[in-house]
Amino acid sequence: MIVVTGATGSIGRALVERLTSSGRHDVLAVVRRPAEDLGCDYALGDFTDPETIGRLLSPGDRLFLNSSLWPGFVDAHRAVIDLAAQAGVAQVVAVSVRGASPGEKLGGGMHGEVDAHLRKSGLPWTILQPTGFMQNLRRDVRDGRLYGSYGPKQVNYIDTRDIAEVAAALLTRPVGPDRDHVLTGPESLSHEQIAEAIGEAIGRPVRYVDLPVPEMAAHLERQGIPQPHAGDLAALMAETGDGRWATTTTTVEDLTGRPPRPLSAYLADHKDAF
Ligand SMILES: NC(=O)c1ccc[n+]([C@@H]2O[C@H](COP(=O)([O-])OP(=O)(O)OC[C@H]3O[C@@H](n4cnc5c(N)ncnc54)[C@H](OP(=O)(O)O)[C@@H]3O)[C@@H](O)[C@H]2O)c1
Repeated sequence: MIVVTGATGSIGRALVERLTSSGRHDVLAVVRRPAEDLGCDYALGDFTDPETIGRLLSPGDRLFLNSSLWPGFVDAHRAVIDLAAQAGVAQVVAVSVRGASPGEKLGGGMHGEVDAHLRKSGLPWTILQPTGFMQNLRRDVRDGRLYGSYGPKQVNYIDTRDIAEVAAALLTRPVGPDRDHVLTGPESLSHEQIAEAIGEAIGRPVRYVDLPVPEMAAHLERQGIPQPHAGDLAALMAETGDGRWATTTTTVEDLTGRPPRPLSAYLADHKDAF
Protein backbone atom coordinates (compact mmCIF):
# COMPACT_ATOMS: atom_id res chain seq x y z
CA MET A 1 0.00 0.00 0.00
CA ILE A 2 1.13 3.57 -0.70
CA VAL A 3 0.09 5.54 2.39
CA VAL A 4 -0.19 9.28 1.74
CA THR A 5 -0.28 11.64 4.72
CA GLY A 6 -1.14 15.31 4.11
CA ALA A 7 -3.33 13.98 1.31
CA THR A 8 -5.64 17.02 1.29
CA GLY A 9 -2.77 19.51 0.92
CA SER A 10 -1.39 20.98 -2.28
CA ILE A 11 1.26 18.26 -2.74
CA GLY A 12 -0.88 15.44 -1.35
CA ARG A 13 -3.87 16.03 -3.64
CA ALA A 14 -1.65 16.16 -6.71
CA LEU A 15 0.13 12.99 -5.58
CA VAL A 16 -3.10 11.04 -5.02
CA GLU A 17 -4.39 12.25 -8.40
CA ARG A 18 -1.17 11.19 -10.10
CA LEU A 19 -1.20 7.73 -8.48
CA THR A 20 -4.88 6.98 -9.06
CA SER A 21 -4.90 8.32 -12.63
CA SER A 22 -2.07 5.93 -13.44
CA GLY A 23 -4.38 3.10 -12.38
CA ARG A 24 -3.07 2.38 -8.88
CA HIS A 25 -5.66 0.97 -6.51
CA ASP A 26 -3.27 0.51 -3.59
CA VAL A 27 -3.39 4.11 -2.34
CA LEU A 28 -4.52 4.98 1.18
CA ALA A 29 -4.97 8.68 2.02
CA VAL A 30 -4.57 9.65 5.66
CA VAL A 31 -6.91 12.55 6.40
CA ARG A 32 -8.26 14.42 9.41
CA ARG A 33 -11.79 14.62 8.03
CA PRO A 34 -13.70 12.43 5.54
CA ALA A 35 -12.44 13.22 2.02
CA GLU A 36 -14.65 11.42 -0.52
CA ASP A 37 -13.49 13.84 -3.22
CA LEU A 38 -9.95 12.41 -3.17
CA GLY A 39 -11.05 9.45 -5.25
CA CYS A 40 -9.13 6.80 -3.28
CA ASP A 41 -9.51 4.87 -0.05
CA TYR A 42 -8.96 7.02 3.00
CA ALA A 43 -8.61 6.56 6.74
CA LEU A 44 -8.73 9.08 9.56
CA GLY A 45 -5.40 9.87 11.20
CA ASP A 46 -3.86 12.89 12.91
CA PHE A 47 -0.19 13.60 13.61
CA THR A 48 -1.19 15.06 16.98
CA ASP A 49 -2.05 11.46 17.95
CA PRO A 50 0.71 9.53 16.12
CA GLU A 51 -0.78 6.12 16.93
CA THR A 52 -3.77 6.97 14.71
CA ILE A 53 -1.33 6.96 11.78
CA GLY A 54 0.91 4.17 13.09
CA ARG A 55 -1.99 1.71 13.21
CA LEU A 56 -2.65 2.24 9.49
CA LEU A 57 0.85 1.01 8.55
CA SER A 58 1.73 -2.56 7.52
CA PRO A 59 4.94 -4.35 6.54
CA GLY A 60 6.08 -3.38 3.04
CA ASP A 61 4.03 -0.16 2.84
CA ARG A 62 5.51 2.91 1.20
CA LEU A 63 4.85 6.04 3.28
CA PHE A 64 4.61 9.63 2.04
CA LEU A 65 5.30 11.73 5.14
CA ASN A 66 3.95 15.27 4.95
CA SER A 67 1.88 17.75 6.95
CA SER A 68 1.96 21.46 7.68
CA LEU A 69 4.05 23.02 10.45
CA TRP A 70 2.78 23.53 13.99
CA PRO A 71 4.60 23.63 17.37
CA GLY A 72 4.25 19.85 17.92
CA PHE A 73 5.44 19.00 14.40
CA VAL A 74 8.88 17.63 15.33
CA ASP A 75 7.77 15.25 18.10
CA ALA A 76 4.75 14.07 16.11
CA HIS A 77 6.73 13.34 12.96
CA ARG A 78 9.49 11.59 14.90
CA ALA A 79 6.86 9.41 16.60
CA VAL A 80 5.26 8.46 13.27
CA ILE A 81 8.73 7.57 11.90
CA ASP A 82 9.31 5.29 14.90
CA LEU A 83 5.91 3.65 14.39
CA ALA A 84 6.68 3.19 10.68
CA ALA A 85 9.94 1.44 11.58
CA GLN A 86 8.09 -0.82 14.05
CA ALA A 87 5.48 -1.63 11.40
CA GLY A 88 8.13 -2.71 8.86
CA VAL A 89 7.43 0.06 6.33
CA ALA A 90 9.55 -0.42 3.20
CA GLN A 91 10.26 3.23 2.40
CA VAL A 92 9.55 6.74 3.70
CA VAL A 93 9.46 9.65 1.24
CA ALA A 94 9.37 12.79 3.39
CA VAL A 95 8.74 16.43 2.50
CA SER A 96 11.32 18.72 4.08
CA VAL A 97 12.58 22.11 2.87
CA ARG A 98 15.66 23.35 1.04
CA GLY A 99 18.45 24.13 3.48
CA ALA A 100 16.82 22.27 6.40
CA SER A 101 19.13 21.89 9.36
CA PRO A 102 18.59 21.76 13.12
CA GLY A 103 18.80 25.30 14.55
CA GLU A 104 17.57 27.06 11.38
CA LYS A 105 14.56 29.38 11.61
CA LEU A 106 10.99 28.06 11.51
CA GLY A 107 10.42 25.15 9.12
CA GLY A 108 14.10 24.81 8.28
CA GLY A 109 14.95 23.96 11.90
CA MET A 110 11.91 21.75 12.48
CA HIS A 111 12.45 19.80 9.29
CA GLY A 112 16.17 19.54 10.07
CA GLU A 113 15.35 17.72 13.30
CA VAL A 114 12.83 15.38 11.68
CA ASP A 115 15.20 14.68 8.76
CA ALA A 116 18.00 13.77 11.20
CA HIS A 117 15.66 11.37 13.00
CA LEU A 118 14.55 9.74 9.75
CA ARG A 119 18.15 9.28 8.53
CA LYS A 120 19.01 7.24 11.61
CA SER A 121 15.68 5.41 11.87
CA GLY A 122 16.85 2.30 10.04
CA LEU A 123 14.06 2.83 7.49
CA PRO A 124 14.87 3.26 3.79
CA TRP A 125 14.34 7.01 3.25
CA THR A 126 14.17 9.74 0.66
CA ILE A 127 14.02 13.36 1.80
CA LEU A 128 12.58 15.94 -0.60
CA GLN A 129 13.94 19.43 -0.02
CA PRO A 130 11.87 21.80 -2.17
CA THR A 131 12.28 25.56 -2.46
CA GLY A 132 9.31 27.88 -1.86
CA PHE A 133 5.96 26.87 -3.34
CA MET A 134 4.42 28.83 -6.22
CA GLN A 135 1.08 27.79 -4.69
CA ASN A 136 1.80 30.08 -1.71
CA LEU A 137 2.50 33.25 -3.73
CA ARG A 138 -1.20 34.08 -3.86
CA ARG A 139 -1.19 34.57 -0.07
CA ASP A 140 1.36 37.39 -0.41
CA VAL A 141 -0.60 39.38 -3.02
CA ARG A 142 -3.01 42.01 -1.68
CA ASP A 143 -4.67 44.89 -3.51
CA GLY A 144 -2.33 44.77 -6.47
CA ARG A 145 0.80 44.46 -4.36
CA LEU A 146 3.16 41.55 -3.64
CA TYR A 147 4.77 42.15 -0.25
CA GLY A 148 8.09 40.72 0.91
CA SER A 149 11.55 41.36 2.36
CA TYR A 150 13.46 39.50 -0.33
CA GLY A 151 15.31 42.49 -1.79
CA PRO A 152 16.29 42.61 -5.46
CA LYS A 153 17.94 39.19 -5.90
CA GLN A 154 16.46 36.12 -7.53
CA VAL A 155 14.60 33.42 -5.62
CA ASN A 156 13.48 30.05 -6.96
CA TYR A 157 9.94 28.72 -6.60
CA ILE A 158 8.54 25.29 -7.47
CA ASP A 159 5.05 24.18 -8.44
CA THR A 160 3.84 21.64 -5.84
CA ARG A 161 2.55 19.46 -8.69
CA ASP A 162 6.19 18.82 -9.60
CA ILE A 163 6.98 17.76 -6.02
CA ALA A 164 4.02 15.37 -6.25
CA GLU A 165 5.32 13.94 -9.52
CA VAL A 166 8.73 13.33 -7.99
CA ALA A 167 7.08 11.63 -5.00
CA ALA A 168 4.92 9.49 -7.29
CA ALA A 169 7.99 8.35 -9.21
CA LEU A 170 9.89 7.49 -6.03
CA LEU A 171 6.95 5.68 -4.42
CA THR A 172 6.18 3.48 -7.44
CA ARG A 173 9.63 2.38 -8.56
CA PRO A 174 11.82 -0.09 -6.66
CA VAL A 175 13.12 1.47 -3.47
CA GLY A 176 16.45 3.14 -4.25
CA PRO A 177 19.33 4.19 -2.04
CA ASP A 178 18.71 6.67 0.80
CA ARG A 179 18.99 10.20 -0.61
CA ASP A 180 18.23 13.88 -0.17
CA HIS A 181 16.81 15.59 -3.25
CA VAL A 182 16.84 19.38 -3.58
CA LEU A 183 13.84 20.20 -5.80
CA THR A 184 13.54 23.49 -7.68
CA GLY A 185 11.55 25.05 -10.45
CA PRO A 186 13.27 25.70 -13.79
CA GLU A 187 14.01 29.41 -13.34
CA SER A 188 14.83 31.92 -10.62
CA LEU A 189 13.28 35.37 -10.70
CA SER A 190 13.39 38.57 -8.66
CA HIS A 191 10.16 39.40 -6.85
CA GLU A 192 9.74 42.39 -9.17
CA GLN A 193 9.72 39.95 -12.09
CA ILE A 194 7.33 37.63 -10.23
CA ALA A 195 4.91 40.51 -9.50
CA GLU A 196 5.04 41.55 -13.15
CA ALA A 197 4.33 37.96 -14.28
CA ILE A 198 1.36 37.67 -11.88
CA GLY A 199 0.02 41.01 -13.17
CA GLU A 200 0.29 39.87 -16.79
CA ALA A 201 -1.46 36.57 -16.00
CA ILE A 202 -4.38 38.13 -14.13
CA GLY A 203 -4.72 41.18 -16.36
CA ARG A 204 -4.23 43.72 -13.55
CA PRO A 205 -0.92 45.31 -12.59
CA VAL A 206 0.83 43.86 -9.52
CA ARG A 207 3.75 45.74 -7.97
CA TYR A 208 6.39 44.24 -5.67
CA VAL A 209 6.72 46.15 -2.39
CA ASP A 210 9.98 45.37 -0.62
CA LEU A 211 9.74 46.09 3.10
CA PRO A 212 12.52 46.13 5.71
CA VAL A 213 12.22 43.12 8.05
CA PRO A 214 10.56 44.98 10.99
CA GLU A 215 7.96 46.54 8.67
CA MET A 216 7.29 43.22 6.96
CA ALA A 217 6.88 41.60 10.39
CA ALA A 218 4.33 44.29 11.33
CA HIS A 219 2.55 43.75 7.99
CA LEU A 220 2.32 39.99 8.69
CA GLU A 221 1.08 40.66 12.23
CA ARG A 222 -1.71 42.84 10.82
CA GLN A 223 -2.72 39.82 8.75
CA GLY A 224 -3.07 37.72 11.88
CA ILE A 225 0.34 36.01 12.08
CA PRO A 226 1.44 36.25 15.72
CA GLN A 227 4.88 37.20 16.98
CA PRO A 228 7.55 35.83 17.13
CA HIS A 229 6.45 33.88 14.05
CA ALA A 230 5.82 37.05 12.00
CA GLY A 231 9.32 38.37 12.77
CA ASP A 232 10.96 35.04 11.95
CA LEU A 233 9.02 34.80 8.70
CA ALA A 234 10.08 38.28 7.61
CA ALA A 235 13.71 37.53 8.55
CA LEU A 236 13.51 34.28 6.61
CA MET A 237 12.36 36.20 3.52
CA ALA A 238 15.42 38.43 3.79
CA GLU A 239 17.65 35.35 4.19
CA THR A 240 16.21 33.53 1.19
CA GLY A 241 16.64 36.76 -0.79
CA ASP A 242 20.40 36.69 -0.24
CA GLY A 243 20.85 34.36 -3.20
CA ARG A 244 20.87 31.02 -1.35
CA TRP A 245 17.61 29.94 -3.03
CA ALA A 246 18.55 31.20 -6.48
CA THR A 247 20.29 28.17 -7.94
CA THR A 248 18.33 25.52 -9.81
CA THR A 249 18.73 21.74 -9.84
CA THR A 250 17.86 19.22 -12.55
CA THR A 251 16.40 16.79 -10.02
CA VAL A 252 12.74 17.06 -11.06
CA GLU A 253 13.59 16.24 -14.66
CA ASP A 254 16.12 13.57 -13.64
CA LEU A 255 13.47 11.76 -11.59
CA THR A 256 10.33 12.31 -13.66
CA GLY A 257 11.67 12.61 -17.20
CA ARG A 258 10.11 16.04 -17.73
CA PRO A 259 11.22 19.53 -16.76
CA PRO A 260 9.50 21.29 -13.86
CA ARG A 261 6.75 23.82 -14.62
CA PRO A 262 7.79 27.45 -15.03
CA LEU A 263 5.95 30.21 -13.14
CA SER A 264 4.03 31.07 -16.32
CA ALA A 265 2.47 27.56 -16.36
CA TYR A 266 1.49 27.80 -12.71
CA LEU A 267 -0.06 31.24 -13.28
CA ALA A 268 -1.93 30.13 -16.40
CA ASP A 269 -3.54 27.31 -14.41
CA HIS A 270 -4.22 29.27 -11.20
CA LYS A 271 -4.89 32.88 -12.20
CA ASP A 272 -8.35 32.76 -10.62
CA ALA A 273 -6.74 32.16 -7.23
CA PHE A 274 -5.30 35.69 -7.21
N1 LIG B 1 5.13 26.58 1.81
C1 LIG B 1 6.32 26.50 1.25
O1 LIG B 1 6.73 27.38 0.46
C2 LIG B 1 7.19 25.33 1.59
C3 LIG B 1 8.47 25.23 1.02
C4 LIG B 1 9.23 24.10 1.28
C5 LIG B 1 8.74 23.10 2.11
N2 LIG B 1 7.50 23.25 2.67
C6 LIG B 1 6.98 22.17 3.52
O2 LIG B 1 5.96 21.49 2.81
C7 LIG B 1 5.06 20.87 3.72
C8 LIG B 1 3.64 21.14 3.28
O3 LIG B 1 3.43 22.51 3.39
P1 LIG B 1 2.05 23.28 3.17
O4 LIG B 1 1.85 24.12 4.37
O5 LIG B 1 2.06 23.96 1.84
O6 LIG B 1 1.00 22.11 3.15
P2 LIG B 1 -0.53 22.11 2.76
O7 LIG B 1 -0.73 22.14 1.31
O8 LIG B 1 -1.25 23.15 3.57
O9 LIG B 1 -0.95 20.66 3.28
C9 LIG B 1 -0.77 20.23 4.58
C10 LIG B 1 -1.44 18.88 4.71
O10 LIG B 1 -1.10 18.35 5.98
C11 LIG B 1 -2.31 18.02 6.64
N3 LIG B 1 -2.12 18.18 8.08
C12 LIG B 1 -1.80 19.31 8.75
N4 LIG B 1 -1.73 19.04 10.06
C13 LIG B 1 -2.03 17.72 10.21
C14 LIG B 1 -2.16 16.86 11.34
N5 LIG B 1 -1.96 17.30 12.59
N6 LIG B 1 -2.45 15.56 11.11
C15 LIG B 1 -2.69 15.10 9.86
N7 LIG B 1 -2.60 15.87 8.77
C16 LIG B 1 -2.28 17.16 8.94
C17 LIG B 1 -3.34 18.96 6.10
O11 LIG B 1 -4.62 18.42 6.34
P3 LIG B 1 -5.97 19.31 6.52
O12 LIG B 1 -6.55 19.42 5.13
O13 LIG B 1 -6.78 18.52 7.44
O14 LIG B 1 -5.54 20.63 7.09
C18 LIG B 1 -2.95 18.96 4.63
O15 LIG B 1 -3.42 17.80 4.00
C19 LIG B 1 5.42 21.43 5.10
O16 LIG B 1 6.18 20.47 5.78
C20 LIG B 1 6.28 22.63 4.78
O17 LIG B 1 7.22 22.92 5.80
C21 LIG B 1 6.72 24.33 2.42
